[in-house]
Amino acid sequence: MKIAIIGTGYVGLVTGVCLASQGHQVICVDKEQSIVAGINHMQSPIYEPGLQELIAPVVSSGNLVATTALKAAVQEAEVSLIAVGTPLGDKGIDLDYVKSSALEIGAVLKEKTDYHVVCVKSTVVPATTDTLVRGILEAASGKRAGEFGLAMNPEFLREGKAVLDFMHPDRIVIGAYDDRSFAVMEGVYAGFDAPIVRTNLRTAEMIKYTANALLATLISYANEIASLCEATGEIDVQEVLAAVALDKRFTPRINNEVIYPEMLQYLQAGCGFGGSCFPKDLKALLAFGRDRGCLPRIVSAAIAINEEQAERILRKLEDKLGSLAGKKIAVLGLAFKPGTDDVRESPSIRIIKGLLQKGAEVCASDPIALEKMKLAIPEAKGVRYTKDYKLALLGAAGALLITPWQEYLEIPPEDYSQLMHYPLVVDCRRALAKNLLESAGVIYAGVGLA
Ligand SMILES: NC(=O)c1ccc[n+]([C@@H]2O[C@H](COP(=O)([O-])OP(=O)(O)OC[C@H]3O[C@@H](n4cnc5c(N)ncnc54)[C@H](O)[C@@H]3O)[C@@H](O)[C@H]2O)c1
Repeated sequence: MKIAIIGTGYVGLVTGVCLASQGHQVICVDKEQSIVAGINHMQSPIYEPGLQELIAPVVSSGNLVATTALKAAVQEAEVSLIAVGTPLGDKGIDLDYVKSSALEIGAVLKEKTDYHVVCVKSTVVPATTDTLVRGILEAASGKRAGEFGLAMNPEFLREGKAVLDFMHPDRIVIGAYDDRSFAVMEGVYAGFDAPIVRTNLRTAEMIKYTANALLATLISYANEIASLCEATGEIDVQEVLAAVALDKRFTPRINNEVIYPEMLQYLQAGCGFGGSCFPKDLKALLAFGRDRGCLPRIVSAAIAINEEQAERILRKLEDKLGSLAGKKIAVLGLAFKPGTDDVRESPSIRIIKGLLQKGAEVCASDPIALEKMKLAIPEAKGVRYTKDYKLALLGAAGALLITPWQEYLEIPPEDYSQLMHYPLVVDCRRALAKNLLESAGVIYAGVGLA
């Protein structure tokens, strides 16, 4: 099939490359000339495991081309997937990019005689596709929905595992305006081995928010229990959550083997959720509910707990060090999770800003996210950045493990005790071996443990 993808960021590019590798003819459209040029030169503009390797064959075979020319792409294609950003605005979700894409596509549909399906892949609040997008497309094209197809196909990929997730989805949710739209969308995913959930347009939108809000709420719930453990003393949240998880309703047994569903990875105390999706999607859902007089209170609490987590971590550091003014603090990890260079809404941002406010000297390390962080907090000029964690630790009065990159989990305990001025390690992910560190002379502090 000929597929146009509007917006070639994380979702658009991964979708485009994966669909092209399935034999579709994909035209990736982006406003950014540098992104388009990079793709056509077989260079991925983002770091995502496995993506770079897939780009070269699909570009050289001609199955994937990138362009800034939306009009020609939509003219040629049978289906357009809208994968532009949906950031958070002052009053909730900002749909400006979706609106302008719909307007441009609608103008092409006016002239186009072939049937064409417009599918929203961006995360949008319920009823966006069947009211706002449909209205714009109808007004711009002079046609009624039905004459063109309309669909909503939320994306569930996780950064760091995006290619794997896209190629092996748990389910493919397709909200469709009518049977004809659905049939076209089924063709897009013909090569995938996953159950297809067929719904109406707004249910598809709600499924995406419900999934993200549930996963983020698990994280905040674990952090709330962690705070209670710390406030009480002599309770380790990890011990608590591990025992809770042994309930067979969470961890079924198959042939006496305990099965740990991946969902339990979210029921872990840490420094809170970040990334381009959870924070903005929860806030968008909160604003959406508020506008409808139906405030989602659990979601509201999950956001508040998450936003307070950085301050709790800084208090932990101050409990051990007193004033942080003039003290060097090593921040290990900037990306919001391992496997990506994405720092959007990363907990490290709040933590670094808090450290600077308290007068600390910050030395931050990350294997791949340094450049993105420099752009994310240009105002934080005092931060020193290094790829070499040893330089970050050298002379530091405290180290915070923020992103559990494998190389940080493998730091020999002696590196902390020998390099640091005062070998205090705050394990913000509960990913380090406390006993091993302590036996090497490290002073260990962990989230959910006091
Ligand atoms: N990043 C994720 O892990 C993820 C996962 C699932 C869903 N989503 C959702 O997918 C959507 C896209 O997210 P993303 O992270 O890929 O965004 P992104 O910001 O990385 O990419 C969006 C791209 O769209 C381009 N763009 C904007 N308006 C355009 C227009 N009119 N024409 C052409 N290009 C245009 C921008 O230049 C940018 O390159 C969002 O709604 C997001 O919530 C993201």
